[in-house]
Amino acid sequence: MKSTAYVQVMDRPQIDTIQKHVETAIDELIGALPDPERLSAVEGHQVIARYAAVLEGNFIYWMTAALLSVKSEEARDKIVENLREEVRDCHPSMLRRFVIAARAVPTDTDALSIYPEISNVRLFLGRLQAVPILVTMAFFEGYIQRFMGYLASLAQRQGSSEMEYTDVHGVCDVTHTQELFNALNVEMTLDPPAPSMNIYEGVDLLSTLLSRIVEPALSREAL
Ligand SMILES: [Fe+2]
Repeated sequence: MKSTAYVQVMDRPQIDTIQKHVETAIDELIGALPDPERLSAVEGHQVIARYAAVLEGNFIYWMTAALLSVKSEEARDKIVENLREEVRDCHPSMLRRFVIAARAVPTDTDALSIYPEISNVRLFLGRLQAVPILVTMAFFEGYIQRFMGYLASLAQRQGSSEMEYTDVHGVCDVTHTQELFNALNVEMTLDPPAPSMNIYEGVDLLSTLLSRIVEPALSREAL
């Protein structure tokens, strides 16, 4: 593939604006999480199980959609690095050990409770549009990292001490985040999105899905 080392990248302010938008969306979701102390054991169980139903079989698949959609070496290298770690360290098994220890293995009810929202995200990713997908996956990674402390506290309340999954994914890697947005910058230069394209469509769809994970607990809090 042609090297993109000499591609004249776009002005950083546009990327900074996107990064700010993504960070704000993550802040809003994290800020809306129900207080773990007010959740019943059943509600805590539901949140862990729904999270697993969203992540376990989908993260690698969705990152693969990002890989299939991008055109730049920078973006490709960054995504391959992520996929290699996911597969080599077998993150789906790590998550499965986490939910088993928390006695929160997803059931068919958990899977059905997120079905419409997860279908919307899948259909969006299937369009293989590089820029909105990269923005979405940057948002997803950032959210997961911020959500780990909350998830770990719910598992502890379920009596679990198996925290490898939340420990591994809760590390704030500023360099990694920056590299991801640098890759987005190159991708936007190589294949600029049409002005009419909503580059946050996937962020919005994924936000709706992630909100669904904690929805039963939130509805009760509103009472
Ligand atoms: Fe992972």
